[in-house]
Amino acid sequence: TEEVERESRRLVEQQMFALGQLAGSVAHEINNLIHPIINLTKRLRLRTGPTADPESTRMMDLIDISSRQAATVVSELLQSTRGERWKDIDRPISTAVEHGVDAVRPALPASMRVDTVIEECTTVSVKVGDILQIVGNLVSNAVHAMNGAGTITVSLSKLDDGARLSIADDGAGMEENVRRRAMQPFFSTKVDGRGTGVGLYVVQRIVRGYGGWITLDSSPGHGTTVTIFFPIRKDDHGNAGNPDTPPQGSGGG
Ligand SMILES: Nc1ncnc2c1ncn2[C@@H]1O[C@H](COP(=O)(O)OP(=O)(O)OP(=O)(O)O)[C@@H](O)[C@H]1O
Ligand SMILES: [Mg+2]
Repeated sequence: TEEVERESRRLVEQQMFALGQLAGSVAHEINNLIHPIINLTKRLRLRTGPTADPESTRMMDLIDISSRQAATVVSELLQSTRGERWKDIDRPISTAVEHGVDAVRPALPASMRVDTVIEECTTVSVKVGDILQIVGNLVSNAVHAMNGAGTITVSLSKLDDGARLSIADDGAGMEENVRRRAMQPFFSTKVDGRGTGVGLYVVQRIVRGYGGWITLDSSPGHGTTVTIFFPIRKDDHGNAGNPDTPPQGSGGG
């Protein structure tokens, strides 16, 4: 049906997104390894310059050309994955979570509900794209765990020192040995290519990027609750604790 098609298209999009993130971090590390190769080749050339035999010179030429080419490929990859993030805008976390839920809702089957309890929170700001990714991955996991029907509850609470986002489902839950490994990269219990096992890993990386933390509460038959804490960041202080919130068209209709 159309719904199934939409869900699978969404899954593919999400995995591409997740793989993009992963590619970005791999590219970064490869980049750090390529530069010593380029620089050391240059130094080797200077040292051996006039005395090098033609064969060695040819080998150094090849190392030079290959490593520079590798650096070009990697920097293109880094730029394309960065582009996704930089074009992203900062929003209060409560606004971003609302967008995130709005984005996933249309893809859910009618037998699944998303309830939201979102407290306004302007002291923590986030990139909307980061929240889309977090909510997208966690809701996708919840959908898989629920086997057709159920309720997902997305809550956001404002805390003194940050914000707490939780996404709970009443699905199958996890055995303790699965729960413990769930955030490892490429760990998946989903068979025949339905899962790459990067979803939670990527979510965890994003959360750590904000200096926050994530916990999984789950047991078989009792569903799963993922809780994420986002701290107020130093550079967010401009907004934090300002009693007169700026006029930001909160009218709504
Ligand atoms: N809400 C949940 N309920 C039950 N099990 C879960 C839930 N979320 C994650 N898991 C378990 O953790 C594993 C890892 O999750 P993760 O999102 O990292 O990968 P995946 O969903 O298998 O694949 P991908 O997200 O890359 O498509 C899952 O395979 C599943 O066993
Ligand atoms: Mg997943």
